[in-house]
Amino acid sequence: MRAPAIIPAAGVGHRMKSSVRKQFLTLLDRPLLDYSIEAVDSCKMIEKVILVVCEDDLAFCRDRYLKKRRLSTPVEILPGGKDRQESVYLGLRHLQSLDEAPQWIVIHDGARPLVTNKIIKEVLKAAYKSMAAIAAVPVSDTMKIVKEDKLWTDKTLDREKVWAAQTPQAFSFPLLLEAHKQAEKNGFKGTDDASLLERLGHSVCIVEGEDENIKITRPVDLKLAELILSSRKGAL
Ligand code: CTP
Ligand code: MG
Repeated sequence: MRAPAIIPAAGVGHRMKSSVRKQFLTLLDRPLLDYSIEAVDSCKMIEKVILVVCEDDLAFCRDRYLKKRRLSTPVEILPGGKDRQESVYLGLRHLQSLDEAPQWIVIHDGARPLVTNKIIKEVLKAAYKSMAAIAAVPVSDTMKIVKEDKLWTDKTLDREKVWAAQTPQAFSFPLLLEAHKQAEKNGFKGTDDASLLERLGHSVCIVEGEDENIKITRPVDLKLAELILSSRKGAL
């Protein structure tokens, strides 16, 4: 059984503080987004890639991913929305509008270039069994809830119970689409897809992810990603 994947990559990357949108920053020798797309594209369980990018990046991406770098699965490129949730929802609605809507869906952030084939497969297989699955890792730091002014601590979370959610995340397609519809109707905003299901009381299964599957968010993440990629290349 295969599934399409949506890659949300329409963010502006405020926290990266760079004039170039972070998904197009150079990682070793090419745009960071190349790695995320190629990792998803090379996974045999993925049948199609829906890449969601900013309006301004459509022409560049169509040229790069439809003409110059031919990928093994069909790729469609769509304009995104004003936040991540909206960008994913646009991808889901596009898939829903096709003659045959999919049964399953994988979501993987364009900003996670170090994802492996293994974790994409494991998450999708877990979703086939449980309807909803995410990659997540236990946190290392002690996690605090802070006061609204961000100057004072409020309380400390039980670290044993706190895991950091990653992508890939995989779901029953109708289930995730319905969760997005409900979130839109009720004005709920979540920073990942699993949170839209959790609020409706659905269980989401965890697949232990990989520490190296970092999200490129701040400048230090790019340095780390370069080190990780170089060490992987050295190991070949
Ligand atoms: N994303 C998207 N559409 C948006 C905002 C975000 O498709 N309107 C994508 C990003 O491109 C990224 C993923 O969602 O691949 C995760 O978001 P995040 O790391 O928060 O990226 P940005 O929103 O670009 O960064 P920031 O929050 O620092 O502005
Ligand atoms: Mg963001």
